Amino acid sequence: DPWSGHPSRRLLAAGLSCCTVLALYAASSLRDPPPVWGRGNDGGDEAVTVLMWWVPFGRNQPLDGCERRFGIRDCNLTTDRGRQLEAQAVVFHHRNLMSSGLKNLPRVRPPGQRWVWMNLESPSHTRGLRDLAGIFNWTMSYKVDSDIFVPYGYLQPSQTPAPHLSMPRKTKLVAWVISNWNEEQARVRYYHQLKEHLPIDIYGAHRLKLKDNSVVKTVSEYKFYLAFENSQHPDYITEKLWRNAFTSWAVPVVLGPARSNYELFIPPDSFIHIDDFASPRQLALYLKFLDKNKSRYRRYFAWRKRYDVQQMFFWMEHGCRVCDAVRAAGKPPKTIQNLANWFES
Ligand SMILES: *[C@@H]1O[C@H](CO)[C@@H](O)[C@H](O)[C@H]1NC(C)=O
Ligand SMILES: *[C@@H]1O[C@H](CO)[C@@H](O)[C@H](O)[C@H]1NC(C)=O
Ligand SMILES: *[C@@H]1O[C@H](CO)[C@@H](O)[C@H](O)[C@H]1NC(C)=O
Repeated sequence: DPWSGHPSRRLLAAGLSCCTVLALYAASSLRDPPPVWGRGNDGGDEAVTVLMWWVPFGRNQPLDGCERRFGIRDCNLTTDRGRQLEAQAVVFHHRNLMSSGLKNLPRVRPPGQRWVWMNLESPSHTRGLRDLAGIFNWTMSYKVDSDIFVPYGYLQPSQTPAPHLSMPRKTKLVAWVISNWNEEQARVRYYHQLKEHLPIDIYGAHRLKLKDNSVVKTVSEYKFYLAFENSQHPDYITEKLWRNAFTSWAVPVVLGPARSNYELFIPPDSFIHIDDFASPRQLALYLKFLDKNKSRYRRYFAWRKRYDVQQMFFWMEHGCRVCDAVRAAGKPPKTIQNLANWFES
């Protein structure tokens, strides 16, 4: 357990002040997260056609970038239902499936064609799963054990490791962007406690206005970002971390699944977890300490010499990844019998 020596645990044990202990704390050695994907095209070079049955969120986009952007060759993405019979895989976005209904699934199902269930929401915001047993062949979601794993973002080893880090100038302390305010949610309850000890700037509906309408531009001026998920589920780590915090070079303070779950995807010293602290007050003290101690703060960026942050390119990349999966899978048939139990586990 690389975390057993964490300052907050020692702090509890020793009853010392936060900052005395932190000053004595030396970073444990880094562990690296595993690579998310190889670089395209293992297992055959037949061209693959993937049909998106619905255009997710009605958002059209160019479909010809699989090779250029992701190094995935001979991958033909289409939204033309007239090509269903030639498709090796058809992707169904859960949200559209719920609004259109099961009656709007294709009538014919060529043998060998994979039907892929795609969902990027958490179980707390996903309904209708119990009607979907025995229909799909593959799952595609942020869950690591999906047939096709599509996280919101991932790290890639740097092509050219940077000797020096150049981060945006930080003039502000803590930001949070939230649009769906709900007093019942863990993130809102935690915020109410944290703000007693620390000023927090909130952006979103009825709050502060984003600079140039851009989350990244706005958050880049802050040292810390509250990457609080709307619900807590294994592997459910969203653009709140990948875009709002990492792309803005703000240190993420996370509320989501357990620290050990985050560490499957990102280095242990790239983020601060609320569970690292006995109380919101302790967390606030730690953030204030980091605000004063530049060298300690900068340690949260050491991993950036080795990794680049990639955001998942919605939804072209999802389609391209299906081509890889089709080529890697070969022929064996599979049916997802218990979609609800798997997704909610
Ligand atoms: C900052 O923290 C480091 C330990 O992480 C400590 O060695 C150093 O003295 C601190 N600097 C200041 C100015 O408090
Ligand atoms: C994709 O499909 C189009 C239209 O059928 C075809 O012209 C093109 O050659 C295909 N490309 C690949 C890479 O299969
Ligand atoms: C896909 O699932 C359907 C429905 O259970 C099944 O009939 C078909 O054989 C499966 N196909 C593949 C290629 O797994």
